[in-house]
Amino acid sequence: MQYRIPIASGKGGVGKTLLSANLAISLAQQNKTVIVVDLDLGGSNLHTVLGIRNRHQGIGHFINRKAENIESLVVETAQERHFFIPGDGLLTGTANLPYWRKLALLKQLEELTADFVLLDLGSGTTFNTIDFFLTSEAGLIVTTPDTTAILNAYSFLKASMLRLLQRSFPGKSAERQAVLEFMEEKVEGQDRSIQTLVANLSAINHESGRTAEAALARFRPRVVMNMGRTAQDIRLGGRLRQVVRNNLQSDVEFIAYLPQDELASRSPLERSATLLTYPQSKYAVAIHNCARRVLNEPVPETPKLFPDNEDLKELAEDFSPPR
Ligand SMILES: Nc1ncnc2c1ncn2[C@@H]1O[C@H](COP(=O)(O)OP(=O)(O)OP(=O)(O)O)[C@@H](O)[C@H]1O
Ligand SMILES: [Mg+2]
Repeated sequence: MQYRIPIASGKGGVGKTLLSANLAISLAQQNKTVIVVDLDLGGSNLHTVLGIRNRHQGIGHFINRKAENIESLVVETAQERHFFIPGDGLLTGTANLPYWRKLALLKQLEELTADFVLLDLGSGTTFNTIDFFLTSEAGLIVTTPDTTAILNAYSFLKASMLRLLQRSFPGKSAERQAVLEFMEEKVEGQDRSIQTLVANLSAINHESGRTAEAALARFRPRVVMNMGRTAQDIRLGGRLRQVVRNNLQSDVEFIAYLPQDELASRSPLERSATLLTYPQSKYAVAIHNCARRVLNEPVPETPKLFPDNEDLKELAEDFSPPR
């Protein structure tokens, strides 16, 4: 059984690639076989963060039919049990991924043999990124404490939920049309909450409303708060929780709080992974905590509610252990 963990963000530069690389290493150090895939097509740089030279064929070769499958593109890394599939650093121009190639690629990802397959995605809400994100109901969304990053994380979550609803109904169905109109904001002067959309779907067909609710309930992405400077910063996670509650009638769960760490930003420049070069750094310790949570609960179980932000408090305690 393969656990797939797509790693996405609304805003760019919030630390997805650094997280993908180091989380993969941590999981491998805990005896799991891990493949991390660079799916930031057009902006591939995972190899740099892993300290691997850009001379291997990657996903770009599969998209351009120069490689038959992606298993053949797997590269070994310095860490035992940790493997890597490069992006399109050698063959650029694949950012525009044709639909049929995307389907073939999704199928290939499913067929990889590993305990964990981590997907380092590009930032933003393009359909390609969202479709990779939706290959799992338990992806990670990375944000920083800054307001733009938090609002963009919210937008990413909303776009993913709408895309999920769209894909829950067959093409040309009245239900799909209703979702599309909602996405294009054609429905004017109406309450724009997701709840309204679900009610509209129920009005078309009661069963469709149930399908939509079930799809949304199963969708449990978790949030990583990165580059926090103080334990106080973590409170800002509560703002994301609130805006998601108010506008999406949904609840987000936080899985990790990673500190701003000079050693973390230094290691890519030194062309090596933080966990290998600075295993005692604050960043490395926080990554191990994150990996432990992923291992304990690769797929979050029943929807959880944290009315008093208990998960955030617990993460803050990890961040600044009592003296
Ligand atoms: N916790 C951290 N402490 C210090 N520096 C960090 C931390 N996390 C990430 N960085 C640095 O921030 C920069 C951006 O990180 P990274 O490339 O991982 O972001 P990204 O989300 O993948 O960006 P993009 O959207 O461009 O793909 C890098 O220089 C990285 O080393
Ligand atoms: Mg990146």
